[in-house]
Amino acid sequence: MVGPDYTVCRVAVARTLPLRRAVLRPHLPADEPYLPPDATASSTVAFAALDGQGEVIGVAVLTPDEPPFGRPDGGAWRLRGMAVAPEHRSRGIGGALLDAHVAHVAGLGGGILWCNARIAARGLYERGGMSAWGEVFEEPLIGPHIVMWRRVGADGAARAPAADAGPWSA
Ligand SMILES: CC(C)(COP(=O)(O)OP(=O)(O)OC[C@H]1O[C@@H](n2cnc3c(N)ncnc32)[C@H](O)[C@@H]1OP(=O)(O)O)[C@@H](O)C(=O)NCCC(=O)NCCS
Repeated sequence: MVGPDYTVCRVAVARTLPLRRAVLRPHLPADEPYLPPDATASSTVAFAALDGQGEVIGVAVLTPDEPPFGRPDGGAWRLRGMAVAPEHRSRGIGGALLDAHVAHVAGLGGGILWCNARIAARGLYERGGMSAWGEVFEEPLIGPHIVMWRRVGADGAARAPAADAGPWSA
């Protein structure tokens, strides 16, 4: 069987910025800097999918951040900046990036993984074991979003929301 022609690996956050800007902030004027808060946080972890030439074709980052529904214990990590180059979509790269971040959270002992998901990307996160929380909300200039979340066990397995009290109130 032929495997995927890309690899997913950890990279410096700075390497994620050009693709994030192109895919997620196309409306930004060319002379406006793009510096999301995770880019300067030393605790941010980034993964990228690289093609055979080492070009970045998919990215996402993980940064410690409390979810909007609060958390009773353990760590909480926010997934941000998920972007795959248009010509490489629907080949499993987004799913592989999500898996890499889940594995990273598991390696840290597990915790809450959450994101503000674009509505069009909801299926990607659901396939990764995440559930929606709260109402759809509008991000100005970007569009409708919904909070998606899951618990990650130290073994990387999803922890069914039914087994917990959550999402719980802050
Ligand atoms: C959302 C996004 C990151 C998904 O990346 P991706 O690499 O296309 O993700 P995947 O390939 O894992 O999954 C996407 C689709 O491909 C399908 N797919 C996955 N692996 C596949 C494979 N090997 N062969 C064919 N199809 C496959 C999935 O079933 C999925 O279909 P669906 O979304 O219609 O249900 C990408 O579309 C993107 O960058 N979009 C614009 C920015 C954006 O919305 N980012 C998310 C912000 S929250």
